[in-house]
Order: sequence, then structure tokens, then C-alpha cells
Amino acid sequence: MLSTILAISNSGKYHHLFAALTDLGIKTDHVPSCSEALTVLTTNPYAAVLMEEVLLGNPTNTVEKIHRIKPQLPFVVFGNGPTAGDYKQGQSEIPSNYLPLTGVENVDLARLLNRLKELLPELRAEVLPGKDLLWIKSNNQAMIDVISLVDIIKDDSSTVLIQGENGTGKEFIAWLLHYSGRRYTTPYVAINCAAIPETLLESELFGHEKGSFTGATEKRIGKFELADKGTAFLDEIGDMPLSTQAKILRVLEKGMVERVGGHRNIPVDVRIVAATNQNLQEKIEVGLFRRDLYYRINTFTLKLPRLAERPEDILPLAKHFLDMITPRRGQGTEKRLSQATGQLLMDHDWPGNVRELRNAMERVAILTPGDVIEPESLPEDIRGKRDHTSAASGHPKASAASDGRVPIMPLEELERMTIVEALSKYGADAEEAARQLGISKATLYRKLKKYGIVRRLTVKN
Ligand SMILES: Nc1ncnc2c1ncn2[C@@H]1O[C@H](COP(=O)(O)OP(=O)(O)OP(=O)(O)O)[C@@H](O)[C@H]1O
Ligand SMILES: [Mg+2]
Repeated sequence: MLSTILAISNSGKYHHLFAALTDLGIKTDHVPSCSEALTVLTTNPYAAVLMEEVLLGNPTNTVEKIHRIKPQLPFVVFGNGPTAGDYKQGQSEIPSNYLPLTGVENVDLARLLNRLKELLPELRAEVLPGKDLLWIKSNNQAMIDVISLVDIIKDDSSTVLIQGENGTGKEFIAWLLHYSGRRYTTPYVAINCAAIPETLLESELFGHEKGSFTGATEKRIGKFELADKGTAFLDEIGDMPLSTQAKILRVLEKGMVERVGGHRNIPVDVRIVAATNQNLQEKIEVGLFRRDLYYRINTFTLKLPRLAERPEDILPLAKHFLDMITPRRGQGTEKRLSQATGQLLMDHDWPGNVRELRNAMERVAILTPGDVIEPESLPEDIRGKRDHTSAASGHPKASAASDGRVPIMPLEELERMTIVEALSKYGADAEEAARQLGISKATLYRKLKKYGIVRRLTVKN
């Protein structure tokens, strides 16, 4: 049995990571200061110490003392302040045991886990590869197959195509491929091919030389070069223009990029992970996607099912999202779904897939002061089918958007949802929520009352 890990952190923003390590079977004790760490270290055996970066320069030099009493103890300093790159540029000396975190929960957990596994051989045996796949726990066979394949291919450099509707977790899987494999310390560079105007896409991907076109006043390094040794995630590849597709093919075949306006071939070693919610075969038939590129990028294809096709996962995922904002994470009491609420979640068809479920759970966790989540806290479109309170309240039901993005809806409903969204983001901090909404606190109270939200909130004064 692995000894406990000691986490020293005083900012509160990493609690969820320590809790998640414990969830993975790596018990983690947490103390807020180096002096408390010193006390517990003298009485308890610990396997390793994780310390938040801001505590490094503590005036009483307790870090030194920790090193002195436990010279062999693996010690990791983590933080998301300056990156390793900044340190290199001479700001101050980077600690050799520094682990930069990103602020993205699952990515950071993968980084911590990988670092701990490097330091603690017993952990390598104890935490199975499947468990490294963080919260991708599934009871659905199609998802289990995807997860197993990710685990098999995470360490090689073959191209991967991830297909699935909006919100099914394509980017989540791309992260896992990168951060659970050996590339986890190397760059992960995401490029949204649909969001970048066609004229800029090539310069974005391949960079450009100074003066190569009007406006190119400086040389620019492209995303492929930035992703060298790591992963380039080409999101929405179905929207990539044909001319750019030809150039991507060249990168894949030759392992070289050429900057726009440049004449030099620059070697790059990049794993390409592409994602799309479109049917690329159909795009090939109508001449909008290159067949040769399609065959080149889909060495492995991961097809993500819609959430409604993996009903076994709806309640566990709902619980997972609720747990992410429970007391351990410093907000309110632990919540659970009532049976009726669970049933409504099972009955809903989830057009926005996992993203819709996550948003719904984050919202209800805020709107429910007690422990049990009843149907009335659910967004209207989820309880709509069975519960007719939406009609009774006089609001026509919003038409569900097929991609989980904002549907066209009555403005009053939009206002209500925006307020709920602001509250779910800023907890019960009405002041901050009002500020973000651009209204006064008094107006917010009035609107909470108008929409009947006020009774379910603990609004601070
Ligand atoms: N298995 C999972 N466990 C936990 N969270 C998940 C899982 N799958 C998806 N998510 C969460 O659901 C949300 C949507 O996932 P993601 O952004 O990866 O979807 P996507 O397929 O890329 O969507 P889009 O096509 O709209 O870009 C994210 O918040 C992600 O963290
Ligand atoms: Mg995405």
C-alpha cells in the first residue's frame, strides 16, 4: 500500500486536484503552510511532497528544514505562475523539480500523476494505465473501446481522427492522448480551423517571414513549429480550406513546414490529432475534403457516441460533475440527485451531449441549497417533457439547439438563463455576478425575485 502524499498549498485553488488524486487511490494529506508540513512530516511517513510554488521563498526557510529532515523524500514544486520557458529567460532559476500546471483540471491532474509515477516506482504498479485516463470512466462499450485504444496509442506518433457530435468530448480525448502519454511535458497546441479566417489560417499554422504579405511586419512562428515534439490538435478539420489541406498533407508526408513567404524547410516532429463533427466521407464525395488527406489522418479513428447512446454514463457523469463542485472543492454541501431528477436526466435526449450535462449540473449545484437536487432546479428543456411548469409559468419552451449552443428563445428566458449562468460561475457571490452582468446588485435582486431564483440561493450581503 502506497504511503500518503503530502500537499502543501495555501491558495485554495488546488484542493480539487488533491481530492482527485485521492479519488484515484493516491491518498493525499493537505496542509496550508510549510511549518505545519514540518510538524506532520516528523510524525508521519509520507511517500512524496507536493508544494505550491508561492511557498518556495518562505522567510523562515522551512523548505530547507524539510529537505534536511527528509533528504530522500521526492519533492515536487508546482504552480501556474511563470512557465518553465519564462524561467529559462532568466527571471529566476527554475527549480529542477518544478512542474508547471495549466489551470485546466484534467490536464493538471495528468501532469501531477505522471510526475508522481516518475518519482514513485510503487505507484507505477499500483495505478493501472486505465486509471490514468482520469475521469474517462465509462460503462458503455463503445466508450470503453475508445478509452482502451487511447491507452494503447497514447505513446506513439500515429495520426488520430476523433469524430463525434458537438460536446461529445473530442477535445477531452485529444488532451488525454497527449497528457496521459509520454508527450505530456511537450507542447499541446490546439488550432481551431473553423475559427480562423481562411486568409490567416496558413500563416497561423506555418508561420510567415517578415514582409511576406501586407501586414506581415514581423516574422511569425507557426503553430506546427510551436508544437514541435508535441501534439498539434487540428479542431474542426472538416472546415479546413482545400488549399490548406494540401499543405497539411505535405507536413505529414515530409515532416517539414515552410513559412509563408519563406524558402526554407523546417523539420517538425508533431503528432497530429484532428477532430470533426462532420462526415468527412460525404465531404470527399462532393470535393470539399481531400481523400488522400483523409487516409493520412485517420490512421486511428476514434468515434465518440452521442450521450444519449451511452445512457449507462449519464448518471455517473452527472455525479462526477456535481462532485467537482462539492464541499471538498470549497462550495456548499455535497449534492445528490433525487430519483425523479435522475429519471429526467435519463429521459432527456441531450442534443448538446456531455457539455450540456456538465452545464446543467454546474447550474443545479448552485441553485440547490440543500443536499438533494429536485427536478425544479433543472433547466426547463430537461424537465420539459414531463413537467409542465414551464408552460404554466407562461414561458414558451425554448427550441433546443441541435449542437448545444444557445438556442433561439424568448428574451426573458435568455435573461433568466444568463443570470443563472452568472450565478453558477460566481457561486453565491451576488456582487460579482451583478458586476459581470453589468447591472447593480439591487437590479440583480429584483430579477432573481422576478424569475423565482431568489428563494433557492444563499445570497451574501
Ligand atoms: N468523459 C468525460 N468526463 C468528464 N468530462 C467530460 C467528458 N467528456 C466531455 N467532458 C466535458 O464536456 C465538455 C465538452 O467536451 P469537449 O469540449 O471535449 O467536446 P467537443 O466534442 O470538443 O465539443 P465541440 O464539438 O463543441 O467542440 C467539456 O467541458 C469536457 O470537459
Ligand atoms: Mg471541441
